[in-house]
Amino acid sequence: MNKSRWGEIEKRFSKARKSYRHYAVVQDKAAQLLVEKFAHLIKSHESVLDIGAGVGLLTEKLLPFTEKLYACDLSKEALKENPLKEKKKFTCNMERLPLKNRSVDWLVSNFALHWSNWKKTLREIDRVSRRGYFFSVPVKGSIKGLNFPFPEAEEILEIVKPNSWFIKEIEIPFRGREFLLFFKRTGTGFNPNKRISAFEILKKPSLVGNYSFYVLFLLKVWD
Ligand SMILES: C[S@@+](CC[C@H](N)C(=O)[O-])C[C@H]1O[C@@H](n2cnc3c(N)ncnc32)[C@H](O)[C@@H]1O
Repeated sequence: MNKSRWGEIEKRFSKARKSYRHYAVVQDKAAQLLVEKFAHLIKSHESVLDIGAGVGLLTEKLLPFTEKLYACDLSKEALKENPLKEKKKFTCNMERLPLKNRSVDWLVSNFALHWSNWKKTLREIDRVSRRGYFFSVPVKGSIKGLNFPFPEAEEILEIVKPNSWFIKEIEIPFRGREFLLFFKRTGTGFNPNKRISAFEILKKPSLVGNYSFYVLFLLKVWD
């Protein structure tokens, strides 16, 4: 992915840092599910790094599980809203984690991998995690019509070969102007494959095939 694209993504998430929580109801549901399904595996002495942590919808739900909780993100501004102390947060590109092999017990992520070159990010997660990892990521079939390049679930499953996984459809509870604001206020309006304009969506809501995300949840544990 080129530098200007990272810059664009970083800029949008930074700008949306104050409005993100209010509109990110889908992301919050996904974070809740991830924690309910997999967080019990984290032992209290183990380290956890939330990548693409942003304002911290997943991070905050992991606080009861370990004190060795860390967060990283492209956006320094978004991280300012993350509940962790300064020394536990750092900016980086998750495609190139500045960490040694097998240096963190668990890597976790919620609704972030699809913003990166996810194949590169998967290699990094694989390299850095010592006990394993779990994450959620929206996949192909989400908000059809908008033509966003979501990854194919089958491709991810083929690469990861997870111990456990499931796909859940999560509805976006906004329509009309609020639907458009959902993207703007969460910083998620960037679409490299944009085909239809905001105006067209307002005029003809059926251009959006489904007002929902198909979200892949998976767990990988190293033996
Ligand atoms: C939709 S938000 C999700 C934030 C958070 N995980 C949550 O549960 O609400 C996606 C986050 O991924 C970050 N991000 C996107 N591309 C990234 C990259 N290549 N490296 C690190 N962070 C990235 C964005 O800055 C943004 O904060």
